[in-house]
Amino acid sequence: MKFIAGFIAALAVLAAGGLIYIYSGTYNVAASNPHSPILGWVLVTARDKSIAARTDEVGPPPPPSPSSIKEGFEHFDEMCVACHGAPGVERGEVGKGLNPKPPDLVRLSKGIDPRQLFWVVKNGIRMTGMPSFGATHNDHAIWNIVAFLKELPATTAQKYQDMKKELAASQSSGHEHDHNH
Ligand code: HEC
Repeated sequence: MKFIAGFIAALAVLAAGGLIYIYSGTYNVAASNPHSPILGWVLVTARDKSIAARTDEVGPPPPPSPSSIKEGFEHFDEMCVACHGAPGVERGEVGKGLNPKPPDLVRLSKGIDPRQLFWVVKNGIRMTGMPSFGATHNDHAIWNIVAFLKELPATTAQKYQDMKKELAASQSSGHEHDHNH
């Protein structure tokens, strides 16, 4: 009985301390303020384990084709570069101010399971700035993005610019693009 009473009292003190901490505004939410090493470890480990545990929800990737890579490039250039940058393209101003930092996808895409890329692009990562593109894109469009991500490590800065020019040329020639939104 005494033990239980002590335990409940300790919990109450902890809860009160937590509430005082929250309400006092001591915690600094500034993005410019780096995470402590412990919180950083907790968040990164929780993210990696959470994504890995959900990979099996995703079906097998459809085989990439030149047209899926091209469609994926179009989405990537429009929606990802501001935060992540691209070969020969720096992160934009939005990406530079984010905490956590958007990773370099050229390096990240290399060894990663395409189903994990699909899951992240579709669902996003809460409280990081990484949006859920499943809110606006169907699975077909997201697999196209993944097809391009897997090409990223082999895409030079020159090739990236060539793809941009090709896209601009096909758009200005009045060619209707199937956006797969
Ligand atoms: C508004 C900024 C923003 C945009 C736009 C954005 N991302 Fe991200 N992304 C982030 C941030 C921030 C992270 C890092 C999250 C973390 O550290 O947990 C991230 C992480 C990722 C990851 C890595 C997840 C992992 O396993 O570590 C992938 C893959 C990714 N983004 C792909 C994309 C793609 C593809 C697009 C475009 C369709 C995109 N992102 C657009 C901010 C963005």
